[in-house]
Amino acid sequence: MSILKIAMIVGSLRTASLNRQLANVVVKLTPAELKFSPVRIDDLPLYNQDDDDTPAACVTRLRHEIRDADGVLFVTPEYNRSIPGVLKNAIDHGSRPRGKSVWTSKPAGIIGVSPGRMGTALAQQHLRNVLASLDMPTLAMPEVFLLAADGFFDAAGNVDAQTQKLLQDWTTRFRHWVTTNRR
Ligand code: FNR
Repeated sequence: MSILKIAMIVGSLRTASLNRQLANVVVKLTPAELKFSPVRIDDLPLYNQDDDDTPAACVTRLRHEIRDADGVLFVTPEYNRSIPGVLKNAIDHGSRPRGKSVWTSKPAGIIGVSPGRMGTALAQQHLRNVLASLDMPTLAMPEVFLLAADGFFDAAGNVDAQTQKLLQDWTTRFRHWVTTNRR
């Protein structure tokens, strides 16, 4: 089986991010056929259309990393019932100049974790709208909305066996999704 390159974007910048920890768990649990590469978004300037023809080096780097990937995994928190601005900013950067979006046709997956009971469900729904407009085929099911109660991650950053199984099953579906939808 060929190795698929997956660009992994975490929608939180904070050091102790639950979503970054979740992304790390996915990397640990996933077989070698999926090679996850974290995509940096914390150094991107605020998107300004005036800069489309003279992008900053970090914007060019982001665009190259997405273009080079077979698929994209978004691991995102929910902010005020939507996606964090830093994530939307990164998406906007990759979508321009007009006609040169790097997102087009990239198969995508979304997972997220929150201390709130809805477990990022609304953020994921908003993100699906955005990805649809970018022509990114996005895995629909199973959905992964995780509620992080105390002790969700142990001291070593691991999750319990049930959550591991859920993530492994999801990753298997995601791998199939990327394989069958990449162009
Ligand atoms: C939040 N949080 C939050 N949680 C949620 O489930 N629904 C929401 O709408 C919001 N809104 C929200 C807005 C802002 C500005 C912040 C900072 C936080 C709580 C959020 O889920 C929690 O802080 C997570 O731990 C953030 O994810 P990371 O940084 O741990 O990955």
